[in-house]
Amino acid sequence: MNQKSKKVVLSGMRPTGPLHLGHLAGALRNWLDLQKKYHCFYSIVNWHAFSSDYQQFSHIREYTFEVAADWLSIGLDPEKSVLFLQSQVKEHAELHLLLSMIIPLPWLQRVPTFKEMQRELPDKELNTYGFLGYPVLQTADILIYKAQVVPVGEDQSYHLELAREITRRFNRLFGEVFPEPQTLLTEVPKLAGTDGRKMSKSYGNAIYLKDPPDVIRKKISTMKTDIRRKRKSDPGVPEECPVFTLHKAFVPREKRDSLARSCRTAQIGCLECKKVVIDTLIHILTPFWKTRRQLEQDQSQVWKILDKGNQKARTTARKTMEEVRSAIGFAMKS
Ligand code: TRP
Ligand code: SF4
Repeated sequence: MNQKSKKVVLSGMRPTGPLHLGHLAGALRNWLDLQKKYHCFYSIVNWHAFSSDYQQFSHIREYTFEVAADWLSIGLDPEKSVLFLQSQVKEHAELHLLLSMIIPLPWLQRVPTFKEMQRELPDKELNTYGFLGYPVLQTADILIYKAQVVPVGEDQSYHLELAREITRRFNRLFGEVFPEPQTLLTEVPKLAGTDGRKMSKSYGNAIYLKDPPDVIRKKISTMKTDIRRKRKSDPGVPEECPVFTLHKAFVPREKRDSLARSCRTAQIGCLECKKVVIDTLIHILTPFWKTRRQLEQDQSQVWKILDKGNQKARTTARKTMEEVRSAIGFAMKS
């Protein structure tokens, strides 16, 4: 397949620090698959991070590095995919501005995440102009590359619905400039963190991709398991074991099913069962760590790669913006 006939994929990730197993199972694995078949744009969306974290933004450079280094180490390939930093492609801001003027306010006011986030994070002042426009910026991210496919988790499906609605409105007003982006819903496995709650950076319970093997071993071996298993002779219920959420995401089915049976029939101890998932993760992550260490030693490599991605992204974004300006009537030449 040549470049032209490949579908365009776009997705983004907010730079909130190093990535954990949840990011791998819920997004990155899928992105790696997509990069084999499609023309993919993957963006570190630091403007989106700014819209919710502007009061504490001093770590942004470090976090951007962490995400980029994690992406490269896990195998996102800058020769195949365009890996770039949102804030370095100013055209996103221009398209965001134009879209913001054609979107009726109620479309944004009824976005569930807008109110939810304000309720859940009362310390952050999120009742802002920019945060209300979060889905508008997201739509600009997608449309500026004329992306047809947008892989995201369920939590983003409302934003994508809105993106499609905005696209239709733009096209109705100014002509068929943009394809309507399709949501590619990624199944996001529910992973438990070290304390049994949902794995999340904000709970401090995450297992990071860059955690060294002994840290991973320690984090998992001290995790609680199904409470029924006080002794090895007590049968357990894997579906109610936090550790087994990791098995479900990473251990191949046959092996996992056999562990589940042994758990239910009390033929295996938790330590032995944990060892399987620990070994699996170490196996998966060994090549990752090797690349990660190299990139940490020469951080300029990471910035250089991003810089090249920014340039590629800019080339496409500029072309689209010329079409947009001329469709609306802002073009200097006819
Ligand atoms: N809002 C997305 C999230 O929080 C990140 C994002 C920004 C995105 N722009 C995007 C995802 C464009 C897909 C397409 O996960
Ligand atoms: Fe969990 Fe495995 Fe222990 Fe069962 S044997 S409770 S699945 S760790």
